[in-house]
Amino acid sequence: ARIRHYKWEVKYEYKSPDCFQKLVTTINGGTPGPTILAQQGDTIVVELKNSLLTENIAIHWHGIRQIGTPWSDGTEGVTQCPILPGDTFKYKFIVDRAGTFLYHGHYGMQREAGLYGSIIVSLPDGVSEPFAYDNERSIILNDWFHKSTYEEATGLSSIPFVWVGEPQSLLINGRGRYNCSLLSNPSLEACNVTNPECSPYILTVIPGKTYRLRIGSLTSLSALSFQIEGHNFTVVEADGHYVEPFVTKNLYIYSGETYSILVKANQNPSRNYWMTSNVVGRKPGTPTGLAILNYYPTHFRKSPPTVPTTGPLWNDTAPRLAQSLAIKALQSSIHTPPLTSDKTIVLLNTQNKIDGVAKNVNATSSNGLYRLKFNSTVDVVLQNANTMSVNNSETHPWHLHGHDFWVLGYGTGKFDVTKDVGKYNLANPIMKNTVPVHPYGWTALRFRADNPGVWAFHCHIESHFYMGMGVVFESGVEKVGMLPSSVMGCGETKGFHRP
Ligand code: C2O
Ligand code: CU
Repeated sequence: ARIRHYKWEVKYEYKSPDCFQKLVTTINGGTPGPTILAQQGDTIVVELKNSLLTENIAIHWHGIRQIGTPWSDGTEGVTQCPILPGDTFKYKFIVDRAGTFLYHGHYGMQREAGLYGSIIVSLPDGVSEPFAYDNERSIILNDWFHKSTYEEATGLSSIPFVWVGEPQSLLINGRGRYNCSLLSNPSLEACNVTNPECSPYILTVIPGKTYRLRIGSLTSLSALSFQIEGHNFTVVEADGHYVEPFVTKNLYIYSGETYSILVKANQNPSRNYWMTSNVVGRKPGTPTGLAILNYYPTHFRKSPPTVPTTGPLWNDTAPRLAQSLAIKALQSSIHTPPLTSDKTIVLLNTQNKIDGVAKNVNATSSNGLYRLKFNSTVDVVLQNANTMSVNNSETHPWHLHGHDFWVLGYGTGKFDVTKDVGKYNLANPIMKNTVPVHPYGWTALRFRADNPGVWAFHCHIESHFYMGMGVVFESGVEKVGMLPSSVMGCGETKGFHRP
């Protein structure tokens, strides 16, 4: 195994990812940031210099379990104090499993400002994937807001509450296209659709070859559907675990999830095709995200001759639930879960005001901390309900730090212990680190609390998390051992050391 050393500097810079210029956070000058490429078992060292001048940072390595290094998880307020302006912090951790993972800011709503990227971990030498392909590419899907994260975070914590609204555009590998003429005074704003920074991402393929696309979503808000015009594809990996392959033409993907799909370049090579992302689950107020699948030797600037799809119906939950149910562990790589659990935690997904005027007098707040017995088996049932408006229920992608969990089942309506537990899939459940709970439905998952540390479990919609949609699981902290001095407190806790 090797040590891979990265030196990153985070800054604010003016960029135009969707043609509209705004301040974004960059890593070494880019958003998305550099891709971490490693092999299973390698140690990653990221020396992160905070050059934001007036803003803290923390970076989370999403999908990496941090076994033995819980202090490198990057969860500000849980596993570390934020990295102060001017400071350098060293993250050091082992990538113990091959697969497709992500990283992103985990301080305030910093992810939305552009602080994100991918982590690709290949198999050890001599081990091969259970599927064949000629080449691979990675694609990060995102949604993009023109307001600064400060304005959004301020609105979310004000009385009266100000919601962030729908994103202005959808990005594919950091590129999107905003219609500048929608601006109230375009001449006052720096928005230019001919800016090369916002020219669409182009993926060039050679006819007849098969490509593995590693697709991750780091949207702040949106659930997405991804499609490649004229092509079906096969889903083979989810969150670093092999999937029993299935073919589809829409990939529904929720913030924090990753998938690998195999796509064969088997269409007419004399033209190009759209790759599109569209909002589902919320009434779309955002144009389709566009990229181009370019067939060699057709010129990459040749626009596809068709109108890009607007994707599946945004409010049709059935095909999304069907895809969730279709994702099973690959037959030859099943890790079966413990057959029973020691504890069940039911988390009701709803909205209430607490300090404003409470609609529900039963609403309370807490520190959201759960102590789990080390090595115990824990079930979590995510029960979805309505938002502040009784006729509306949203999709929430829940992400667990420090562990993968088995997805035991999904259902519609109210979870019923007497009927639904008996129907759990204990035979071939997929393991994941992020899972959606669909509108008015429920999702059940199981994990072993076998990783000493404190771990966030939260909705991956950035504004929901910011509004409080998350808890912390703690287990086996006595096994964590000596903490590196670099994480030994800040503010009022600074200077408290273990004996
Ligand atoms: Cu990718 Cu705590 O999140
Ligand atoms: Cu949510």
